Amino acid sequence: MKDVITIACGQFQPVFGDTTANLLKVKDFVEQAAANLIIFPELCASGYEFKGHRELQALALAPDSSEIRCLKEIARDFRTHIVLGLPERNSGKVYNSSILIEPSGKTTIYRKIHLFDREKRLFEPGNAEPSVVRTEIGRLGMMICFDWIFPEVVRILALKGAQIICHPANLVLQFCQRAMFARSVENGVFTATCNRVGAESRAGRTLNFTGASQILSNRGATLAQASDEKEEVIKAEIRPAEADNKMITTLNDVIGDRRIDYYKSLIV
Ligand code: ACM
Repeated sequence: MKDVITIACGQFQPVFGDTTANLLKVKDFVEQAAANLIIFPELCASGYEFKGHRELQALALAPDSSEIRCLKEIARDFRTHIVLGLPERNSGKVYNSSILIEPSGKTTIYRKIHLFDREKRLFEPGNAEPSVVRTEIGRLGMMICFDWIFPEVVRILALKGAQIICHPANLVLQFCQRAMFARSVENGVFTATCNRVGAESRAGRTLNFTGASQILSNRGATLAQASDEKEEVIKAEIRPAEADNKMITTLNDVIGDRRIDYYKSLIV
């Protein structure tokens, strides 16, 4: 495993319905970032605000689609790990998913378990506990946007050994970046939240996305932060193994000191 790696977020404004244009932007940012790991926004292959199920079905991508094959070629050619949000078609259902693509072509899918607002009417909710992927650059966990408000998601990933949390997002509220500071500190993990920018006026409403993508250290330090409005790549160099040290003082272990005997009402 590498000691030091570069991670990046590719913050951009997807063109609704134009998967080809969006994947060209992904390729362009992968090249620009020259990072070991790059995270892109939630649903950035398609755009966010679907008018209804028919439109969602038409833009959803199957894991064996030509678009995913094209992303595998990009990950191989640039020897990078890509995490990106997409509407994922599987057995007639559509999930709000993120895909991790390793340079070897290995892929892992995470399906958003906490759907936000109108997503509940459109997507099938995720159907599996978040899992951790061992890669040549460290142990990676994925979550998507509104999962941030449920501290259980990062805690489960940290308990499973995640060092870096990859967090594609399409944020419209203002709380997430500050909340992710707590997720990083309370679990001792690196977090990379990649938000989108711009507005979408569709389905009778306008959504304004808040940018400010960020990479936080395992101690909550801001290593890189994007602007609120611009398309841009942000980058940071990290040592993933630092996330294995859970001691916040010489006597306090944020994972090992949990008093689980007194947490039983959490499991209801
Ligand atoms: C969100 O989960 N897209 C806010």
